[in-house]
Amino acid sequence: MLQSKILILTICSAGIGGTFQYGYNISIINAPTSYIQMFMNETWLERTGVPLESNMILLLWSFTVSAYPLGGLTGAVVAGPMAIMLGRKMSLLLNNVFVIIAAVLSGFSRMAKSFEMIMLSRFFTGVNAGVSMNIQPMYLAESAPKKLRGVVTLTSASFTALGLVLGQIVGLRELLGGEESWPFLLASNVVPALIQLTALPWFPESPRYLLIDRGDEESCISALQKLRGNSDLSAELEEMLAEQAAVKGQRAKNPWELFQTPALRWQLMSIVVLSSAMQLCGNDSMYFYAAYVFQEAGIPQDKIPYVVIGTGSCELITSVTCVRLSIFCGCGGSTQALCVQVFVQLLFTFLPFLFPAGVTGVLPTEVFDQMSRPAAYMICGSLLWFNLFLVGTAFPFIVKSLAHFCYVPFLVVCICTALYVGFFLPETKGKSFLEISEEFKKRNFKAQTHAVFYKGPEEIKSTML
Ligand SMILES: *[C@@H]1O[C@H](CO)[C@@H](O)[C@H](O)[C@H]1NC(C)=O
Repeated sequence: MLQSKILILTICSAGIGGTFQYGYNISIINAPTSYIQMFMNETWLERTGVPLESNMILLLWSFTVSAYPLGGLTGAVVAGPMAIMLGRKMSLLLNNVFVIIAAVLSGFSRMAKSFEMIMLSRFFTGVNAGVSMNIQPMYLAESAPKKLRGVVTLTSASFTALGLVLGQIVGLRELLGGEESWPFLLASNVVPALIQLTALPWFPESPRYLLIDRGDEESCISALQKLRGNSDLSAELEEMLAEQAAVKGQRAKNPWELFQTPALRWQLMSIVVLSSAMQLCGNDSMYFYAAYVFQEAGIPQDKIPYVVIGTGSCELITSVTCVRLSIFCGCGGSTQALCVQVFVQLLFTFLPFLFPAGVTGVLPTEVFDQMSRPAAYMICGSLLWFNLFLVGTAFPFIVKSLAHFCYVPFLVVCICTALYVGFFLPETKGKSFLEISEEFKKRNFKAQTHAVFYKGPEEIKSTML
């Protein structure tokens, strides 16, 4: 019992400074939009003596908003080397430095009369989110027992949703969303960072990292004992030793090395599809523009913040239900967990909220070995942030041209992804990492033998049907 408590506390302390920040920082930028735009106008007027045109203000604002995914992209790229060199836990801890810098910059931006500091601050906030979106699922999935891997990583999505809702609540006019308090609102992301800095050092590093990357069997065993207690560790340890033996003599791979390895083709394609789909479903970028969408839908201006909190809460409920339902059905594996998630989603909201958020996190951990994993996360994370940027930029135009049907393209992406998962991903539940990689080896191999034989057009058509 104590051990599952330690696992839960590890999950919470990794999550609070991790994917929680991602959600929180997406939603806090919503409330002070007009105040910051006014601040830009005033600052410009003071500096140059002429006010800004409204087009220029919009442009500066879109730079400010897109500095976040840009930072995220940077974070996703540095996350790989960080995870390899510093370890999972140490990277998560150091990552908080970025938030602290960001909070100082945005907290003092009004005092310094500089809106550039806000942009820079959003960039650093993005770097923080980019690093933790990649390393947190890696850390958790490597630390969780095999049975619970899928579920444990779904909690990342719950923390994102919690961050979104809390960000919306803190952004209310009654709290920190007032005209005078926006620097405090933007700097409030330092609080979760401080919580993580005090909590996370008490928990062990990923046992898998200690054994396979560091070759430190002793620390690995003591970390495992902390996480699992004195229950029988031999089976798990044996499995890790087998993986260590399998990757012996190799060093951690680069992203381009992954693309050159034919044996990883299916795995790569799967993570590329899923991590793109996660953003192309439109769920996260929607929160950048939540107020705008509801305004278009004709909801009175003063009610909008509360409606936005409503949608955020929906997402939170959905994600918590997913985790609970997955545990209830015994769906520990990520493929099943994903199906449950899609089902709950359709049931609850008819909107593509939250789609594969949790599972895109766990998938690279499950389908890549220890040496390829950080590189896989780099690819995955870069795609995720690039697509957030893309959808974030296109969203206002989509809303303008499709109005009430603006969710249709996202829904189509959602359904296609669900079909891909259903038909092409092997079940990963309860399998060891080596077994999963065997499963994929079969597929990669099958694809090759197929390619050897000539296929007539009818045959190709029949396989497509
Ligand atoms: C910028 O400030 C000037 C002077 O205060 C004001 O006249 C103008 O309407 C403002 N522009 C916008 C887009 O708010």
